[in-house]
Amino acid sequence: MGSSEQGEHAIHMMSTEEERRYPPSAEFAAQANAKADIYERDFDEFWETEGRTRVSWFEPFNKLYEWEMPYSKWYLGGKLNVCYNCVDRHVESGAGDKVAFYWEGELEDTRRTVTYANLQSEVVRFANVLKSLGVKKGTPVAIYLGMIPELPVAMLACARLGAPHCVIFGGFSAEALADRASDFEAEILITQDEGYRRGKPLALKKIADEAAANTPSVQKVLVVSHSGGDVAWNEGTDIRYDDLAKDASSDPASCPCEPMDSEDLLFLMYTSGTTAKPKGIIHTTAGYLVGAATTHYYIFDLKADSDVYFCTADIGWITGHSYILYGPLANQATSVIFEGTPDFPDKDRWWDICERYGVTILYTAPTAIRSHMKWGPEYAQKHDLSKIRLLGSVGEPINPEAWIWYRDHIGGGKAPVVDTWWQTETGSILITPLPGITTLKPGSASKPFPGIDAAVYDESSNEVGPGGGGYLVLRKPWPSMLRGIHNDPNRFLSNYWSLFPGNYAAGDGARIDEDGDFWLLGRVDDVMNVSGHRISTIEIESALVDHPLVAEAAVCGRADEITGQAIVAFVTLKGGAKGSDDVIKELRAHVGKKIGPIARPATVVITQELPKTRSGKIMRRLLRDVAENRALGDTTTLADPNVLAEIQRQAQAK
Ligand code: PRX
Repeated sequence: MGSSEQGEHAIHMMSTEEERRYPPSAEFAAQANAKADIYERDFDEFWETEGRTRVSWFEPFNKLYEWEMPYSKWYLGGKLNVCYNCVDRHVESGAGDKVAFYWEGELEDTRRTVTYANLQSEVVRFANVLKSLGVKKGTPVAIYLGMIPELPVAMLACARLGAPHCVIFGGFSAEALADRASDFEAEILITQDEGYRRGKPLALKKIADEAAANTPSVQKVLVVSHSGGDVAWNEGTDIRYDDLAKDASSDPASCPCEPMDSEDLLFLMYTSGTTAKPKGIIHTTAGYLVGAATTHYYIFDLKADSDVYFCTADIGWITGHSYILYGPLANQATSVIFEGTPDFPDKDRWWDICERYGVTILYTAPTAIRSHMKWGPEYAQKHDLSKIRLLGSVGEPINPEAWIWYRDHIGGGKAPVVDTWWQTETGSILITPLPGITTLKPGSASKPFPGIDAAVYDESSNEVGPGGGGYLVLRKPWPSMLRGIHNDPNRFLSNYWSLFPGNYAAGDGARIDEDGDFWLLGRVDDVMNVSGHRISTIEIESALVDHPLVAEAAVCGRADEITGQAIVAFVTLKGGAKGSDDVIKELRAHVGKKIGPIARPATVVITQELPKTRSGKIMRRLLRDVAENRALGDTTTLADPNVLAEIQRQAQAK
C-alpha cells in the first residue's frame, strides 16, 4: 500500500455520485437514543461518560487513557469482568426472566429460548467444567464450534474465568485451525461432534482432531454433543462435555466472576493480512466492551425492553463477537441466534425467523442482500416484516441498488439503513450513520462515530478536503482498538503505523464528499473481500504453490455481482505443463484443504508464464486488469509484453 500501483487500484473503484437522500422521520428522531448534540460531545467526556454508563466496574478506573504511539491503554486502574457485565448483573437487577436469545437450529423445530437466568446457569456450569480441566485466569482456550448455544456459553465461561479465548470460524480447514491454535498456544480446544450445513452433517470434530494432532500446546479436546452422531474418540485427550457437566454446579457462587484489569487480554481474533500468515489481533477487556456496548446502543438504537435484534453473522468472526455476543448482552438485548443458512430449507428462512420472533432490528451483509435480490422479493413478501424498524449493513461497501432494495423490501420502505464501517482491528463500528440524526445516502457509511477521529489522506499524508479521495486513516486512539498483533510487534508497526506516521492506516480507500460524508471504496492492499470475508491473495498463493504440480501462482480479486469480489488464480505448472480441468479441480480442492472452502478460487487460469517486471516482480496490477476484463494499464515495465496476450487468451477461454 502507498505505492502508485495501489493508488491506481483505489481510483478504479470510485463510484459515480449517488443523489438520493433519506432524512430520518420525525417519529424515529424523537425516540432515538442518539440526538444531534451527540456530535458536540468532547472526546474525553464522551468516552469517560460512556465508560461509566455502559459498564459496571468492580473497581472504577482512575485514568481515561494513555497513548504511546502505537499502543493505547484505556480505563486504567479499573477492574471488571465481561461475563459479569453481559450476564450476572442483569440477573442481579431482576431481569433473569428476560430472554437473552432465541436460538434457532438449522433443522426445523430445534429451537431454544435462553433467558438471562438460564444463560447464567449454563455459563457457570461450563466455567466449572473448564476449571476442572485446569483452566484459570490466563489459560488460552481455542474454540471451534458452529452457531450452537454452547458457543456463546463457552466464550462467556472463558471471560468469567479470565481465560482468553480465540474462536476459529467453523469454515476453516484443519491446517488453518492448527496454525491459529498453535500461534495462540491454546491449551484446550473446544469443539462439537458435528454441525449442520443445509441439512447435512458437518464433521467438526474430525477437523478438530486433525488440527489438535498438529498443535502441540493442546492438552485436552472438550467435545460438546450437538448432532449426537458417531465420532472417532481419542482416549486421553478427548473429554465429553456432558460427562463433566452433569456433576458441575450451576450456582454462580460456585464460580465467581474473576476481577480483571481493564487491559487484560479478552480474546484474539485472527484475520488475513498481506502475507501468508494470519494476524492474531489482540483485544483487551474494558475498552473493547465499552466500544461494543456504546456503538450497539446508539447505532442500533437499542431499546432493551421492546427490541428483538437479529445479527446474521457467524460468531466466529468479529461481527459476531461484538454484535451478537458482547455488545447486545452488555446492553441486555433480546437477540436471535441462527445456526443455519438463509436458503435452507427455503429462501424465506430469515423472513420466517423475523416474523416468528418479531425481529425489530436486522444486521447483515451486502452479499446476503444481493443474494436475496437475486432470489426475488416474493420470499420476504410471504412474511409479516412490519416490526422491522432499523436495518444495518456491514462487511463491504454496499451498492446503492442493494441498499434501496433492502430498505424497500425488508424495511417496508421506511426503516433507516445504517451502513457500518469497521474492521477486526477496530473492535467496534467507527464510521456510520446514526439513525435518528443522519440524512442517509445509499452507499455512504456517513460520518465518524462520536469520539472517533477519522480522515482521508493522500499519499503524502495530507488531509484531502471535501470532494477528494485517498486512504482512510484514524488520527486518535479509541477504546476498542487492537492492542497489537500477537507475537509480532514489528508487523503491527509496519502494517498499520508506518504509512502515515502517527496515524492508523486502515488499508481502505475512501472518498469524502462535499458534506464531509465518507464513501468507502474497498481495500487498497493485497487483501480481497469475498462475501464480506477478508482473504489475503498471498495466503492463497502460498496454498497453491504448496501443491506439487504448481511452479508459481498469482492471485487477485475481480468484481462479482453477489459476493462482492471473486478469487482469480493465475498459475504456472512445473515443467511448463498445460494442465487440464482435472488439475484445476484439484488445485481448487487443495486451497480448500489448506485454508477452507471460503478461499477456493472461483477461476483458475493455467498459463505458461506470469507477467513480471525485468527484476522479476509479478505485476499483479496487470493481472487484476485481465481478471476484470478491462483495458490494460501501463505495461512499459513488463519484461516480456507477449506474456500478457497469452494470459488474456487463456482467461477469456474460461
Ligand atoms: O475493507 C473494509 C471492509 O471489510 C474490512 C474489514 O474486514 P474484517 O476485519 O473481516 O471485518 C468485517 C466486519 C467488520 C474493511 O477493511 N468493510 C467492512 N465494513 C464495511 C467495509 N467496507 C465498506 N463499507 C463497510 N460498511
